[in-house]
This record gives sequence, C-alpha cells and structure tokens, in this order.
Amino acid sequence: MLFDHKSAWENEKIYNEIYQNSIKDPEAFWNCHLKDFYWKKKPISSFDKNSSEWSLNGISNVSYNCVDRHAINSPDKPALIWYGDEKGERRQISYNELKNMVIKIASLLKSEKIKNNDVVAIYMPMIPEAIAAMLACSRIGALHLVVFAGFSPEALAYRLESSKAKILLTVTSSRRGGKKIEILNNANCAVSKMTQPCKTLNLDNLQNLEVKINEEIYWQDNQDNLFILYTSGSSGNPKGIVHSALPYMLYTATTLKIILGINSDDIYFSTSDIGWITGHSYITYAPLFHGLTVVIFEGTPTYPEADRYWEIIENEKVSIFYSAPTAIRSLQMFDDALVKKHDLSSLKTLGSVGEPINKSAWEWYFNVVGNKQCPIMDTWWQTETGGIILAPLRNLEQKPCIAGKPFFGNIVKITDDYGNIITSSNSLGNLIINSNWPGKCRSTTYKSEKINFAPNKAFITGDGAIYDNNFDIKIIGRLDDVINISGHRLGTAEFECAINKVHSVKESAVVAVEDSIKGQTAFAYVVIEDIVNHEKIISEILKSTKRCIGPIAKPDFIVFVPDLPKTRSGKIIRHLLRDIANNHNYNEKDLSSVYNQEIVPILYKASQEPFFCPDICKLKR
Ligand code: WT7
Repeated sequence: MLFDHKSAWENEKIYNEIYQNSIKDPEAFWNCHLKDFYWKKKPISSFDKNSSEWSLNGISNVSYNCVDRHAINSPDKPALIWYGDEKGERRQISYNELKNMVIKIASLLKSEKIKNNDVVAIYMPMIPEAIAAMLACSRIGALHLVVFAGFSPEALAYRLESSKAKILLTVTSSRRGGKKIEILNNANCAVSKMTQPCKTLNLDNLQNLEVKINEEIYWQDNQDNLFILYTSGSSGNPKGIVHSALPYMLYTATTLKIILGINSDDIYFSTSDIGWITGHSYITYAPLFHGLTVVIFEGTPTYPEADRYWEIIENEKVSIFYSAPTAIRSLQMFDDALVKKHDLSSLKTLGSVGEPINKSAWEWYFNVVGNKQCPIMDTWWQTETGGIILAPLRNLEQKPCIAGKPFFGNIVKITDDYGNIITSSNSLGNLIINSNWPGKCRSTTYKSEKINFAPNKAFITGDGAIYDNNFDIKIIGRLDDVINISGHRLGTAEFECAINKVHSVKESAVVAVEDSIKGQTAFAYVVIEDIVNHEKIISEILKSTKRCIGPIAKPDFIVFVPDLPKTRSGKIIRHLLRDIANNHNYNEKDLSSVYNQEIVPILYKASQEPFFCPDICKLKR
C-alpha cells in the first residue's frame, strides 16, 4: 500500500479509501511506514497477532532516528531555533550541535551509572538543553520523566518519588514574562522532601562539559519504553503514563507526516511545553524524526508585547504553527494590527490542541492569523493516546470546531452511558476508541487507576462528543472529573486534596465552570468547621493549592456552604454542583439521588455570589 502522504489527508475520497483499507488491515497500513526509520535490524511485521499488540520486532533507537542520522546527512541544518523571553534572544542549534549536546548529557548520565530502564527526571524550561536531555535519555535507553517547570516542589517530589527517579536534570533559572523563576531552588526543595535518594545535576554550562566520547547507543527493541509522563485522572493522585519507544515513535511520526502534511523543509513551531505530551510527541520526537527545523519559545506570547508568536513566525518563516485555544483566545483580545504588522505569508497549516476551540477563536485564527489560506487542524488526542487520534482533513473546506475524522487504523465510536453505540447525529455521548493503535500508552504507574481498556478493547476517553450531520466528530469536552484550565489537565481530586489540608476545612468539592479565556476554571465548594474569617481561609486555600500543585492550579471561585449534596451512601454528587456553579437550572430529576435535598436551594443561592480570587497565576501556557 503505497500512497502520497499529502493527498491522504486532503481529499475526502482518497481519505475514505485509505481509511477503509486501514481498518480492514491495519498491519498493512503500518508496515508501509516502517521504512521511515533507520533500523539496526529490520522488523518483519508491525503487529503481533497473538498478543494483539503492536510489536515492532526490529531493533532501532529513537534518539538515533531523531538526531544522529540527520547529523550525518545534513549536519548544518538547524534542528532547533530557540527564542528567549526578551526580544532579540535567539539561538540556533544545528543537527550536528544537537548530537554533541545529546552525547554530552548521555555520557554525564552514564558516568552517574544510569542504565536502560532507569528513570531520569527533567525539570527544565523550554531551552534546547531540555530537548537534548530527553534525547540523551532515549539514546541510552533510560526513561525520561519530564515535569513542567511550573509545578511546585511538592508536586515534583511526588512524581520523583513515585517513579523512583534516580537523577533530576535541571538548570538554575528561567525567565518568563520578564520574571525570573528559580528552578534549581524548587528542584532542591523537592529533593529535600524525598525519602529515597535522587541526585540533582545542573545543565547550565553544557558548553564546558567535555564530550568524553561515549558513542554507545542503547538499541531498543519492542519491549523498551521511552518515557513516563504524569497526568491527572478523575480520581486520586496524578498517574504516570508509560509510553513505548518504537511503536510510539511510529505512531507520532506517521500522524505528523500525514495529518500535518509535512515537507522536509518545513519550519515547525509548536507553542506547547515539553512538560506536556504535545511537547514530547509534536515538539521533540515526531518533528526531529523527520529532520524538520523546530522553533521553541521560552517566553510568554504577550511579553514584552502581544506579538511574540507573530514576530517569530515572520522572522523564521514558520510554515506549520501548532498552538492551543487558550493562547489564541488570549491573543484575540489584542488589536488585529499586532498580527497584521507581521508578514505571516510563510504559514501553510495551523494547528490547535488541548481543549475544544470555540467558534470565535476558530474564526479569528482562520481569518486573521491564517488569512483564510491555512486549514485549521483541530487535533483531538490525549496523553494516553500518544499522538493525534482525530483531525479534520487538511483543506480549506473547513467546518469550524469539528475535530473530524479518525486517523488511519483507528475505530472511534460514541456510546451512551450503557455502552450502546450511538448511530444518530447530534446526540451527546462518550467518545471511545474501539481499536488498537501503536501510540497507545503501555501502562500507568498509578496502579489503582488502570488505563481503561474494557474486555472488548474499547478505550474510554472521558470526553463527550457528538456526530455532526456529516458524521464528523465534534468534541464537547471532559465528562469526568478532569478540569481543563488553559489546556492544563487537572483532577478535581487534586484540588480537593489541597483544599482539605487547610485547617478548619471539613470537606470540599471542586467542579469546572466555563471561562471565556481559560476554557474552564475551578469553582470550589468548601465546608468549614466553625465560623471563621473567610478571607483568611481563602488565602490559606490559595497557598495550599499553589504549594501542593503549582500556580496553575488556582480555584477562581470559592463559596462556603454548610454541606455538600450527597447520595444516601455519602458520595458527593459533583454533576449537580457543576450544573449549579454554571448557573444551569436543575430540575427535579437531577435531585432524585440527593439524600440531603434541603441543601440544594442553599447551594444555589450561595453560588450566585462566590468569592472571586485575584489572579495570582503567572505561569500561563
Ligand atoms: C484532554 C487530554 C492532546 C495533547 C494535549 C492535552 C482535551 C485535547 C482537544 C481538541 C477538544 C481536546 C480533551 C482530552 N483535548 N485536544 N482538539 N478538542 N478537546 O493532553 O493533557 O492528556 O488532555 O484534552 O478533553 O481528553 P492531555
């Protein structure tokens, strides 16, 4: 099955034909993309029928594919172009230079006795060294664990401890929005809280490190994993998602190639951070695998002015720009002249990921940023899926806000709450994936929350979706207890755990409310023990969420209530609180499961006038 990777995702007829073939014979589809790799030993097939798992039974190395082979073929081609927080700060790193950085960090790790399968944590800002650190781990077969630099020492310590990380790679500081962030201090503080040993290594002065040439590469086979990344679930602590090395690389590289329709000379700019899955799949691995030039940005889009993205696109002649609805909405508030003063004619394709994109942001992105010339690739996926699962076709006949079609080989369905498949358009249901794909995560380190593979292999995503009239998929958002604040995925349970630590808080329930910029924000219902000073408790709650999770996790609204709505067995009924907080009317039916119904009108009244917490969130993505 040979096909032109460009037309496969442009033309509906061609898409349909390839899609039908791909679900009849997914193995044939994936086999035809194995040729994009350098193989030390070629795989015979991509799928193991016995285990129903993707099984690339060849031998290769992810980092070799992303760096070394390009350093041989095009050593001087820029691999990374970094922009700093202040205007004019720019570094360019060729594939050959990137290879040297990777080798230096790899030998440093080796000298610390790190071997394959050990966990190495990375707590660093968006700098080339951070990407080189990820690649150094995969070069020697160690699993990296990247922790977003905006997470608090406590959140970092939890991740280090539960993943048994041996080393923590970091730098002294970062600058964002004109402010200095003391990364090393936070890292040291996290390590000091730990019960097991973890050594901090500072990568500030990589240029002073000798390359003690240790060219040794760990050759990965199908069993090997690439990384762990923590994300929030609907209950309990964040869970560590483990991704495979070779099947994951195949999935992310192929989705980037086909869905975004890349050329080898593309200049690729994704505004995410390596702390999130997008920064793994579509900043680091897939674009470098294809030898693209990748632009990274350490600062914030609005500092010193709200034209940083547009300025970078113009300077570097960026052709693919992949961002998030929350960033687009925040830039849309500024004068269009800030966009128009830059020549953005190099742009070919625009991407969006992380949360549902609303119509007005979609239209602004399409009309003003893309000048009606660029398709908007609204890509839906998750940390668990490794790579893009749904995206619209890459042409200009676009329907706003529709994530669209499943990637080849994937069967995506919508079910009702009893698991029955919905076949009609315009009815809301649960989005499930009814197939196996090579990018699927392998396991989670948080054992009590198993990745949700039902016996029939359906993967339950937690998102709500509907079919439009054309049977393209529109994502509505999470239906479970996960909140998506500015694209940051946080569990209500994590908020509640932080709030309940405050002395005199008896219990709490946190729900998501709609927000015009952040998409969603957290609304906290708090039950306190005695009559106490509300302002004081609010400040303690904000301190606690900042300490336990980080500045990104701030409840914007807090109300004090005498009790929470509960079932007869004492379970908090969050969906009712969600409706009340969003000012939606509740009806009698909603109340049938509420044991303490008398509380409902009190909750309703209190929700009309919540305390609004001043914005202390400085680390927006
Ligand atoms: C959740 C996954 C995928 C990389 C970044 C987020 C939401 C993601 C879309 C989209 C509507 C989206 C979903 C999903 N989401 N992309 N295009 N349209 N919602 O990864 O942190 O694992 O979060 O983000 O709710 O479940 P994540």
